[in-house]
Amino acid sequence: MVRRRRPPFVAGNWKMNLRLREASDLARKIVGAGPDLADCTIVLIPPFTALGAVAGVVAGSAAALGAQDLFWEDQGAYTGEVSGPMLKDARCEYVLVGHSERRQIFGETDETVNRKVRAALKAGLSPIVCIGEVLAERDAGRTLERIDGQLARGLAGFSREDMARTIIAYEPVWAIGTGRTATPEQAQEVHAHIRGRLGESYGHEGATCAIIYGGSVKPANSYPLFKEEDIDGFLVGGASLEAGGFVGIAREALRAYREEK
Ligand code: 13P
Repeated sequence: MVRRRRPPFVAGNWKMNLRLREASDLARKIVGAGPDLADCTIVLIPPFTALGAVAGVVAGSAAALGAQDLFWEDQGAYTGEVSGPMLKDARCEYVLVGHSERRQIFGETDETVNRKVRAALKAGLSPIVCIGEVLAERDAGRTLERIDGQLARGLAGFSREDMARTIIAYEPVWAIGTGRTATPEQAQEVHAHIRGRLGESYGHEGATCAIIYGGSVKPANSYPLFKEEDIDGFLVGGASLEAGGFVGIAREALRAYREEK
């Protein structure tokens, strides 16, 4: 029997979607979905504009709030940016760092990721650090090399205690928004590799880090993915914009989790 490290961690990255009313309606439906989800960690990650509205809905519930990005300075003349202390003040517990869309569209690098992770931890937020290869790297057999580089540079200089508060999201870029999910075997191979590397670098805290998968996750593939030993949950994009889809993903992961207990 597989020894699962922790219950499912399921986060919904709403990206640049939803007006205030739509965001609070969606949050209300998810939070009200039923007590069976209490065993899961549920994180809602709306755009900055809807953080306040969603914070009001998740307050007092088991769900937590996250933001999609942060800047590494605490305050100052950085037009358009939002800092860790501001997110903490807005009642966020989590923040995405280095999402592939930030890397590809906005030029973020492993070095900026490193600064942002440091800022998140300093503010008392748990960073969800996103890594993953593009299709050309996978086709060239360079996936694990790419992952190693992102981990080494993105997490350089952090302590074991830092890693105990950090979540890693493996999101193969070719699977994001494409409907083409990694197979459970493909995802497990990379997750196991990540866990091995984190264990080498950070001991127990690294080896027990939550490592979640993202890329076209749906209720129909959540169960077989979560059955894999090193997949601790999901970072969901498109399917998280609809309560039934998001809750379905969490329920399917919980079904796999409960079978293993
Ligand atoms: P999709 O679930 O839409 O493929 O998006 C994944 C993602 O980027 C989550 O951060």
